[in-house]
Amino acid sequence: PKITPFAVRMPVPPTQRPVAVGDGMDVYHQTIRVVDEEMLPGLRTSVYTYGSGFVGPTIRARSGRPVIVRRTNRLPVRTNTHLHGGHVPADSDGHPMALMEPGESRTYCYPNEQPGATLWYHDHAHVLEAEGVYRGLHGFYLLESEDERYLGLPSGCYDIPIMLTDAHFDANGKMIFITDDGGGRKTLLANGRPQPYFPVAARRYRFRLLNGSNMRIFRLNLGGQVMTQIGSDGGLLPEPVEQTEFVLAPAERIEIVIDFARYRRGTKLVLADGDRPVLRFDVQWEEEDYSRVPDTLRPLPRLSDGPTDRQITFTSNLKEHKFFIDGKTYDANRIDAWVERNSTEIWRITNADAAGFQHSMHLHLVQFRVLDRDGAPPWPGESGLKDTVLVPPNTSVRIKIPFDGYRGVYVYHCHMLDHSAFGGMMAQFQVTDYLN
Ligand code: C2O
Ligand code: CU
Repeated sequence: PKITPFAVRMPVPPTQRPVAVGDGMDVYHQTIRVVDEEMLPGLRTSVYTYGSGFVGPTIRARSGRPVIVRRTNRLPVRTNTHLHGGHVPADSDGHPMALMEPGESRTYCYPNEQPGATLWYHDHAHVLEAEGVYRGLHGFYLLESEDERYLGLPSGCYDIPIMLTDAHFDANGKMIFITDDGGGRKTLLANGRPQPYFPVAARRYRFRLLNGSNMRIFRLNLGGQVMTQIGSDGGLLPEPVEQTEFVLAPAERIEIVIDFARYRRGTKLVLADGDRPVLRFDVQWEEEDYSRVPDTLRPLPRLSDGPTDRQITFTSNLKEHKFFIDGKTYDANRIDAWVERNSTEIWRITNADAAGFQHSMHLHLVQFRVLDRDGAPPWPGESGLKDTVLVPPNTSVRIKIPFDGYRGVYVYHCHMLDHSAFGGMMAQFQVTDYLN
């Protein structure tokens, strides 16, 4: 269908209510199912959901207070759920082989022992996750820690999560699953609406942008206007960074503050991916604003120096549609990296894919630091905690990873989901106490 930009308003995904607020923890239920949603004006689209919408309900959690989520699979296919960016015990991590068959339920425990961050939960059923995430199996998990409350950042209804995705629709609004980023064929969606508008007050807002797409690398700009980045995957940056463009690869998050008080009432500002509009902010009313962006936000945790350096190499075989990590595709029965619990390692990741594809590296369990890109400083905004990093063709990125806390088997993979799901671009590490 022909999409008119800015014809519909961007919704904000609802915050989920716990079914029980226990002594020291919150309990949630989610039913994973198929529903119809009006994503495009006047048309019904069948989507997968964790509750009611294409973007699932937001879970708001606090650092230090555990959350239990009981999930029931009412889909016609297998699923499971991974808390992306979460520091989670292996049995609740949503390992690709820890599946819920149709009709089954599973309980996930999230200890929330990490600083406040924009996390997200999504489907991770081996091979099915690319289509599952595309059709709506994703939602925000916003973790808040005590330190954030005193910073004075915009909060409450001025703290808005925005999930950016893309989809291909037929004339009846049916979502067609196509692999790759579809070039121009796909419609850009913000919180599940096509190029919507969003009314704002002339004051500061905090936006948590998540690239929930499978394959699209967003290059976000506000028509040359400055945006203040305050956070990345793992939470607040040490200090704010001003930028006019952000590169956001699949699964990455950035938190930005935009001060609309700089613009007159009636101003319309377009957030675009290159030159394609994603979302329009309409400055509609005046309001008092007591929020601020302090010069320092959150110090980075200290990291010890680890003895282990690893080299990880990405390649492909295009004829067979395979993508390799260190020459191999995924095997759930193989451990690719043994790491010692509570150790810190440096991994050098090289994209040597002769076909010239973009790849990224995501590790479960951890939040890492980007040390350098080909020996040069990381990109602005990469100074904080990260769980996903883009590795462009013919470049290397070095990251420093603390493997703290939990033992067990976790995966690491490219988060261009077609590569990991269909191309086998995934591997496993095991955290253990006894390494020799
Ligand atoms: Cu966001 Cu292994 O995933
Ligand atoms: Cu890849």
